Amino acid sequence: MAFGYGPLDDLQNELDVARNIINPPEGTPLPIGVGFLVWLLEKNTLQAENLLAKACDAQVQAIWLSFGDNIGHWIEFIRLHDPNAGKKAAIKIFVQISTIDQALCALNNWQVDVIVAQGNEAGGHGLSDSLPILTLIPLLKGVIETAASDRQNQPPLLAAGGLARGSQIASLLALGASGVVIGTRFLLSPESLYTDSQREALLKADSSSSVRTMAFDQARNTLGWPEGVDGRGLRNDTVVDYENGLEIDTLRSRFAEGVKSGNSARMVVWAGSGVGLMNTIKSAKDITKELHEECLATLQRVSTLVQYK
Ligand SMILES: Cc1cc2nc3c(=O)[nH]c(=O)nc-3n(C[C@H](O)[C@H](O)[C@H](O)COP(=O)(O)O)c2cc1C
Repeated sequence: MAFGYGPLDDLQNELDVARNIINPPEGTPLPIGVGFLVWLLEKNTLQAENLLAKACDAQVQAIWLSFGDNIGHWIEFIRLHDPNAGKKAAIKIFVQISTIDQALCALNNWQVDVIVAQGNEAGGHGLSDSLPILTLIPLLKGVIETAASDRQNQPPLLAAGGLARGSQIASLLALGASGVVIGTRFLLSPESLYTDSQREALLKADSSSSVRTMAFDQARNTLGWPEGVDGRGLRNDTVVDYENGLEIDTLRSRFAEGVKSGNSARMVVWAGSGVGLMNTIKSAKDITKELHEECLATLQRVSTLVQYK
């Protein structure tokens, strides 16, 4: 569950929905993760503390933090407010990063539980000049192994960006990732909050229409991202107008009209570079199953390439 631009009550509502669906025994942790955009948290300290305290009180299993200059401060806050701190059920801290420096900071300064490496292919926001995931994972794997060689438990390294097939997942596991993160593929499930028109646009898109841009943040006025961050989505009329230098007020009013009428040619449609490999709408469960089976089949196929003496 990602918590973005909504008010405080939205988080409580979402936590209540999750608790009602999962129905964990009274007093036990809620087996979900909640994601926060740190630069948004940093806009209003009091609200940020209330939000994180709510997530801690709900005993969520994991908190995912990304895109902020002072992530360490919020990790400290979470650890202080976690009712299960120091116990097995303590909240697991995930941090999404894109550079070696960020990874070393997450490892050494914040001692996070899970490092998520986000490659340039990733849908949604990310570092505009981040490396492709196929380079980033072996690079970070080596850095983490060296920096944490004296530790018994090195944090898992997850790979994010452009994944649509189990064979891609198998390749990242072979490169040293402990697992993967999938974003765009799940937009093509009935569970996602995207509209039918947005899903239709994703189904029609090929991978060349996935572009990194500030067009959508300009058009919907969600500015304030850390330096170097932009968003990867489908090139549509909003992006074309922005690239052509359309005056910002007109861009914003066309965008607002597009949202009102549900026109995906104007709306934000976040999409990673793997979008061209996605052509079916399936439940989140079936997507997960399919990716898992494809990944296993790939690993088995590849293992037959090895000649045993
Ligand atoms: C619709 C959408 C929303 C996203 N929201 C967030 C977010 O709130 N916080 C975050 O750290 N990453 C966010 N991401 C990026 C994902 O964490 C992940 O890096 C990305 O989805 C992986 O690439 P893929 O979309 O190509 O699978 C989002 C991605 C998408 C597609």
